[in-house]
Amino acid sequence: MDAIEALMSRTSVPPKLLLDPAPDGEALDEILATAMRAPDHGALQPWRFHIVRGAAREKLGALFVEAMLKHTPDADEEAIAKEQGRPLRSPLVVVACTKVSHEKANVPKVEQIVATAAAVQNMMNAAHARGFGSFLATGKNARDPHIKSAFGLSEDDEIIGFVYFGTPRRAMSEKPRPDSSEFVSEWT
Ligand SMILES: Cc1cc2nc3c(=O)[nH]c(=O)nc-3n(C[C@H](O)[C@H](O)[C@H](O)COP(=O)(O)O)c2cc1C
Repeated sequence: MDAIEALMSRTSVPPKLLLDPAPDGEALDEILATAMRAPDHGALQPWRFHIVRGAAREKLGALFVEAMLKHTPDADEEAIAKEQGRPLRSPLVVVACTKVSHEKANVPKVEQIVATAAAVQNMMNAAHARGFGSFLATGKNARDPHIKSAFGLSEDDEIIGFVYFGTPRRAMSEKPRPDSSEFVSEWT
């Protein structure tokens, strides 16, 4: 698949439709290498990626439950089971983080978040080009201090998202995309 074909055909695949096999070994290394090609102002390399697979997904689910019980101690069984099972929906979850650097005053936090987000998009496109599917999710877990701390992040750092990977169970139906002209104008 050529690059434009990949960019023009990628679509998100809901986590529960992502099955084994997930990218692994060289395929995963290649996907992660594309993250290092993201634009990165000041070469700060603010991104951190945590690979969560196999039994570690249960540990991540338990962390989600712990975080929920901190802010909602009376959460019911259904809510607990939902958080526990969240990472188990796909065979691989990559927790994409921005470790904010204050080293360069001309590279504010927002630019470091943008660099990480661009890295995530590279990975999602690379996965698609190799026949895998992916989904980027955030939600309250991405902003939770207890969860951030478990990934070595301070309050100031950010979880950019939980990126679910796997093999799509079926081809996704084509979703209408807007025409770029709706968002583009000639500035004179
Ligand atoms: C930063 C970010 C966070 C997102 N978080 C969620 C989320 O928590 N839950 C969700 O259902 N979709 C979330 N989405 C949207 C999906 O990742 C996806 O983009 C959307 O379903 C549209 O699919 P598409 O990528 O095929 O256009 C998020 C998107 C972005 C850019």
